[in-house]
Amino acid sequence: MSNDVDLSLLDPILEKYQLKEEALITMLQEAQEVYGYLPEEILAYLSRQIKVPLSRIYGVVTFYAQFYLTRRGRNIVRVCRGTACHVRGGKSILSTVEKILGIQESETSADYKFTLETVACLGACAMGPVVVINDKYFGKMTPARTDTVLKAI
Ligand code: FES
Repeated sequence: MSNDVDLSLLDPILEKYQLKEEALITMLQEAQEVYGYLPEEILAYLSRQIKVPLSRIYGVVTFYAQFYLTRRGRNIVRVCRGTACHVRGGKSILSTVEKILGIQESETSADYKFTLETVACLGACAMGPVVVINDKYFGKMTPARTDTVLKAI
């Protein structure tokens, strides 16, 4: 799967920042926008081109939560596990999502259609339990509504 990575897509980004190490984070962000994640081939190529040890690049990528080393699903489903959502049945929403998608928290479906994440608070506690799918908020969720919303995707 990762053998299919087309490294040439990285060249315009490297050129734009003239291979400058100071722009490492920006280059990683832009590379992730292009590829959707940062597989090892990309990091190794970047390392060779800008002459920064791969271990340092990995250090940066693993430090920031915004970077992903593995391929993610086309749809990102985030279920709130915060207290306000939990007391309103958040746990049953999570188990409903897991059952429908056939994956657990932090997993991606085999067809790369979905990635499931949990979040400490989605900042919309009054609407709990809350689920966010691709940045769209769904509040006052019930298992039945969760089923409807997911099956519509
Ligand atoms: S606790 Fe769920 S949105 Fe805040």
